Amino acid sequence: MHKLNVDLGERSYPIFIGEALLTHPEYLTSYISGNQVAIVTNDVVAPLYLDLLKKSLAGYNVITEVLPDGEVFKSLATVERIFDRLLSARFTRKATLIALGGGVVGDMTGFAAACYQRGIDFIQVPTTLLSQVDSSVGGKTGVNHTLGKNMIGAFHQPNVVVIDTETLSTLPDRELSAGLAEVIKYGLIHDEPFYRWLQEHMDGLRERVPDLLAYAIRQSCLDKAKVVAADEKESGIRAILNLGHTFGHAIETHMGYGNWLHGEAVAAGMVMAINLSARLGLCSPHEQTTLVALLKRAGLPVAPPAEMTPDDFLELMLVDKKVIDGRLRLVLLKGVGNAVVTEDFEQTQLVHCLDEMCGMESVV
Ligand code: NAD
Ligand code: GLY
Repeated sequence: MHKLNVDLGERSYPIFIGEALLTHPEYLTSYISGNQVAIVTNDVVAPLYLDLLKKSLAGYNVITEVLPDGEVFKSLATVERIFDRLLSARFTRKATLIALGGGVVGDMTGFAAACYQRGIDFIQVPTTLLSQVDSSVGGKTGVNHTLGKNMIGAFHQPNVVVIDTETLSTLPDRELSAGLAEVIKYGLIHDEPFYRWLQEHMDGLRERVPDLLAYAIRQSCLDKAKVVAADEKESGIRAILNLGHTFGHAIETHMGYGNWLHGEAVAAGMVMAINLSARLGLCSPHEQTTLVALLKRAGLPVAPPAEMTPDDFLELMLVDKKVIDGRLRLVLLKGVGNAVVTEDFEQTQLVHCLDEMCGMESVV
């Protein structure tokens, strides 16, 4: 078992990473203050891990809310179901919510915890690679709106993140690849040695070699925890964690939530970001080539969906949270391992990037 810490003063919390942690109650129970616990999960994860988790919570007053699976259900309407359940069970401000599932369950449960009676405790038990390396850490919670991805939300940190790496054994290959997109992101933005390590070990990661996966999760959480500790509410450096996301969110919104997985959209978005970076002379075309090769080995798309036009991107990117006073800010790369947030580019350069990328073959 490995323990990392997210250093946020009084909101600090540990991340536990290891095999079969769900069978060790102490990783959860030490972080639950009252007796009321509500587990929120979905109808795919519940049959796999809900009983295991409930066993670890023997002695608590446990209720469960099983949501429908899918990004398309990451909405205010679904979060209301959580509130209905909590209120009908007369759960108080001392209750703890536990998110058991991927990023969709985690983001919604965290948001429900942020809002219920103005804020209650919550715990992340992430079960996808993506949620283990990214969404469960850092306190960003929320839901989608038809006009934009993750547009309604709140910052609300969990009390603890418990990562049981054995849950990855049931994850479909496509979902594993989606998680690898965010893992590659950490190497690109500020960890060049990790990027090199990923180039060396990508095949083993896709074969799910346990030690390799555990190392990749640990390193990703370490990288993310450092950035979050430096800038919890994204007033500066934390924005680098969104490399590829402005392009990616446009893809997810345009394609209809769930049709392209979040990690897939981020993968194509990272290629678009590095393409623009190369156009601006911030990095070399060779770095784009090596990124494309790595993403392909991870089983990820390397260009946007064929049906999307540059105009589709421009329209959607301008409602991104990174638009300030009408100026679009993007995360770009000054070489691998060095992300920068900038609005220092002409719209024509972005349009040239979109023109080139929208004409490329997206399928691996
Ligand atoms: P997801 O939650 O939809 O999970 C992917 C699929 O895997 C689902 O069908 C789920 O039911 C299933 N699943 C989960 N665990 C499983 C397991 N162990 N075995 C078998 N199937 C399992 O998607 P995701 O990729 O985990 O998360 C994507 C979401 O996370 C997006 O909504 C994205 O916006 C959000 N996100 C949030 C942050 C953040 O900082 N809060 C960061 C990155 C992504
Ligand atoms: N996934 C981006 C962030 O947590 O800030």
